[in-house]
Amino acid sequence: MLKNVLVVGGGGREHAIVDALSRSKKVGRIYCAPGNAGIGEQAFNVPIKDTDVNGLLEFAYSHKVDLTVVGPEAALSAGIVDAFRAHGLAIFGHTAAATAIESSKEFAKKLMAKYGIPTASYNAFSEYEEALDYVSGRPFPAVLKYDGLAAGKGVVIAANLEEADAALRSMLLDKTFGQGRVVVEDFLQGPEFSFLCFVNGADVYPMPLSQDHKRAFDGDKGPNTGGMGAYTGLPFITGEDREFALENIMKKAAAAMVSEGLPLSGVLYGGLMKTPDGIKVIEFNARFGDPETEVVLPLLESDIYDIFYGIATGSALDTPKWSSDVTLGVVLASKGYPGAYQKGFKIRGLDNINCQVYHMGTAISTEHPVISTEHPVISTEAEKSQSIVTNGGRVLMLVARGTDLAAARNTVYSEIAKIDCDNLFYRNDIAHYAL
Ligand code: AMP
Ligand code: GLY
Repeated sequence: MLKNVLVVGGGGREHAIVDALSRSKKVGRIYCAPGNAGIGEQAFNVPIKDTDVNGLLEFAYSHKVDLTVVGPEAALSAGIVDAFRAHGLAIFGHTAAATAIESSKEFAKKLMAKYGIPTASYNAFSEYEEALDYVSGRPFPAVLKYDGLAAGKGVVIAANLEEADAALRSMLLDKTFGQGRVVVEDFLQGPEFSFLCFVNGADVYPMPLSQDHKRAFDGDKGPNTGGMGAYTGLPFITGEDREFALENIMKKAAAAMVSEGLPLSGVLYGGLMKTPDGIKVIEFNARFGDPETEVVLPLLESDIYDIFYGIATGSALDTPKWSSDVTLGVVLASKGYPGAYQKGFKIRGLDNINCQVYHMGTAISTEHPVISTEHPVISTEAEKSQSIVTNGGRVLMLVARGTDLAAARNTVYSEIAKIDCDNLFYRNDIAHYAL
């Protein structure tokens, strides 16, 4: 019997997960909550919010869902895995307590110190005066991290005491992000990369390495974003580097979480940096990265249902197989992102794109029927291209694959030229470190 799968989330990451599931021989019906316009072409969109744990639980029961796969960290922190397991439902993702490896900077720092996982040394403070005093006696730039969820705005690299003071005031006196401590750590330098692994307790199954591009504009200029593009096939990470990161960072972290009584059962994402003193952890995330997932999962040759289900049920896995091709993906974002932007601009030209198109923030325009749980959203091809509109900061990601990055880059940029929308921008230099 083919399996029913529910994917939680509605961005490019979830589109890539849905796409990988749709290649599975074991999967029948795919639901995605809440999904988006592109996901609706491959799955049944379900209008339930990703943090509405009870709503999702009821849906999974009433629609005989065999397996649920969680994309966003917010849903994990909301306890979706704990709740599904308590009801005997198979779910891929970490418990709320284990998600602390991402949601609490201090938890992650303590874990790394205790188990000898290489990272910048640090101190944590809850008092503004103490923090300021400590920072003023140390070299700049200073790295200040709010210890909690801060919508990507919790890390400040302060160039001087004035900037550090402003950040500490905002975090510890004005409590801009809420009640929380601040971690002050050493400033590290070197290229950053993302190491995503499937983790089943102490067992770690690495995915291909990738690199995100966090700044909005070419040349790594402009504000930090959720990520403007990514690629696999990093030339600056040697086989030895990868082996070091796998053994001394990813496997150690998985084993540490088992020892702490918080075994991982999902994706562990190492945000790593290759410094002159070796590879170090910048941060851990408890989920697939976005946009990294969109360049990594297309390379998976094994059936992803087996991986997700094996980890969801804590059973043994076959080692996943990966293509030796490389991938390169470019994000198209709304003008103004990551600041204020407008939504609702028509996107034309999506029908004849000859590479993978993942939707990050799109919707069907209201002139056409909206998302339904019972029927696929789109009726005809013509209607589809007419009616898809921008609906987020990051809107689309085009991903091409090839035997080398230059070929993949040429494909992506020539396909992007076919997309017609009045309100999108993108970076022209994705993979510039490698090319
Ligand atoms: P995080 O949210 O911890 O990943 O931090 C966001 C970004 O800040 C990272 O991707 C790095 O570019 C930068 N960053 C964080 N920690 C450090 C550090 N210790 N040294 C240098 N840069 C850092
Ligand atoms: N690409 C960064 C993240 O997913 O956190």
